[in-house]
Amino acid sequence: MMIEVRDLSFTYGGSRTRAVDGVTFEVKEGEIFGFLGPNGAGKSTTQKILTGLLPLQSGEVRIAGRDIRRPGRELFNLIGVSFENPNVYLKLSGLENLQFFASLYDGPTADPMTLLRRVGLGDVAHRRAGAYSRGMRQRLVFARSLINRPKIWFLDEPTSGLDPTMTRLVKDIIREERSAGTTVFLTTHNMHIADELSDRVAFLNEGRIGALDTPRNLKLRFGEKLVVVEVRRDGRLEREVLSPTRAEDRRHLEELLTSGGLETIHSQEATLEEVFIKVTGRGLSG
Ligand SMILES: Nc1ncnc2c1ncn2[C@@H]1O[C@H](COP(=O)(O)OP(=O)(O)OP(=O)(O)O)[C@@H](O)[C@H]1O
Ligand SMILES: [Mg+2]
Repeated sequence: MMIEVRDLSFTYGGSRTRAVDGVTFEVKEGEIFGFLGPNGAGKSTTQKILTGLLPLQSGEVRIAGRDIRRPGRELFNLIGVSFENPNVYLKLSGLENLQFFASLYDGPTADPMTLLRRVGLGDVAHRRAGAYSRGMRQRLVFARSLINRPKIWFLDEPTSGLDPTMTRLVKDIIREERSAGTTVFLTTHNMHIADELSDRVAFLNEGRIGALDTPRNLKLRFGEKLVVVEVRRDGRLEREVLSPTRAEDRRHLEELLTSGGLETIHSQEATLEEVFIKVTGRGLSG
């Protein structure tokens, strides 16, 4: 196991509620583990504890078999972290930012210029990071998190603020890294990316895990498979969405099939977004 979390809880000073409330999960080597949940669910807090930015108050965390209570250099060299708020040295160029971070690690590091090119920042490598756009800074932090060739890679919202082309690029890089054996802890609100990339996803809600499984199993369990039909009535085309699990809809579908007014029929797969809303939605137990 690359990440082992047992009964993890965390309360911020001055707060009466737990930001993280008894969370347990494991991430296997080489896995992409999607960490999803609504704003304020406790995702970033969890990542900060796992990466040693916040102290462990209660529960157990082991990263690559090492107890997070005694982090040490070894752990620092082993992990890469990309934060939700892109924090870079604004007075340094993109290249200097990466060169500085490379100097902090003991082991072999990636070539800064190659990394910048990989995230589409080759042309602005010598420009002050303070003059970068938000999306460019986001990519700089993303590139920086790879500088020490991490075995375990923590990504908090790596695609927030990125345009579709750059989102695709970041997605491809995550896939490439996984193929190279890196374990990925991926926090994101982008359900497409979570679905496409994750081997398993956990839904966090009010500090607790509401569901944890492969995207496929979650969609089968929580999502509803629907049938979308187009029917010609009095010369007009009407669209209807029917659920095969509802007896009434099944009867209606049969009528349509026999009466011959059906123009098109498509089955609509459940999406991870539906699962998200069901698992984390108000009024539903997590
Ligand atoms: N520094 C802090 N001090 C006090 N409370 C905090 C602090 N940071 C976060 N919280 C609270 O802890 C809870 C969890 O916040 P967290 O940032 O972990 O959520 P999140 O799941 O990452 O949300 P988002 O999707 O918006 O990034 C929230 O209620 C938040 O208000
Ligand atoms: Mg967050």
